[in-house]
Amino acid sequence: MPTDSGQAMKPVLVLLHGFPLDHEMWRPQIVKFVPQCRVIAPDLPGFGCAEPPTIPFSMDSIADSIVQMLESSGISKKVVLCGLSMGGYIALAIARRHPGRLQGLILADTRAEPDDETGKENRNRMIELVSKSGPEAIIDMMLPKLLGATTQQGQPGLRASVRAMAARQSAEGISAALVAMRDRPDARPALAEIRVPTLVIVGEEDANTPVSMASALAKSIQGASLEVIPRAGHLSNLENSAAFNSAVERFNYELMAKSS
Ligand code: MLT
Repeated sequence: MPTDSGQAMKPVLVLLHGFPLDHEMWRPQIVKFVPQCRVIAPDLPGFGCAEPPTIPFSMDSIADSIVQMLESSGISKKVVLCGLSMGGYIALAIARRHPGRLQGLILADTRAEPDDETGKENRNRMIELVSKSGPEAIIDMMLPKLLGATTQQGQPGLRASVRAMAARQSAEGISAALVAMRDRPDARPALAEIRVPTLVIVGEEDANTPVSMASALAKSIQGASLEVIPRAGHLSNLENSAAFNSAVERFNYELMAKSS
């Protein structure tokens, strides 16, 4: 089940998962932060136990549905929002459309740039692939770049569990997310408007959103800091969960110090 746990009076940490995964990718963060925060890790539409997406479906419509979900869960206070990769695209859309809901923003292994023409063509090929050959074909295509070299060599169990998580997603959800990511707008123009404390995190071996891209993202957001996670690729929260959790914990302490 998607997670909503931790005490009601505590700070709220919302975790938005990457593609083509579900909230289970946040297990190390859920375990770590539930004693300190109310942790909300939803399944995004079409993934995990979430309903299939409804049309129109876009990063903006998912952003709005996350904010509605917070409201229907009785959460009126500002939240710390953390999104990884596709989750980061949605986090950026929330920052643009609902800035008043945020206490802090964590952008992990993600980018503000839209897909270029080659990227859009790749999405179209993947849409065809998932309809013909299913989710396994998608994850087998993605795995070499999804995990860093250190994980590929040293953590075969993690590789297998990421593959299994992706393989159990629906072809319909994967296809809808590919369309929404392909058509997402350029998030760069709105970066200068972000006024909440922001942390950019990236795995040092991330081949999809490399350190140089994360560094440029951090520089475009006023006051943002950058944490590079050693021995981790694109799924830095799983590949080196201890370093990822420490970075989030430090950020949360700084936020609490600012607000007290
Ligand atoms: C992800 O990890 O969510 C994906 O790499 C996002 C993407 O394909 O752009």
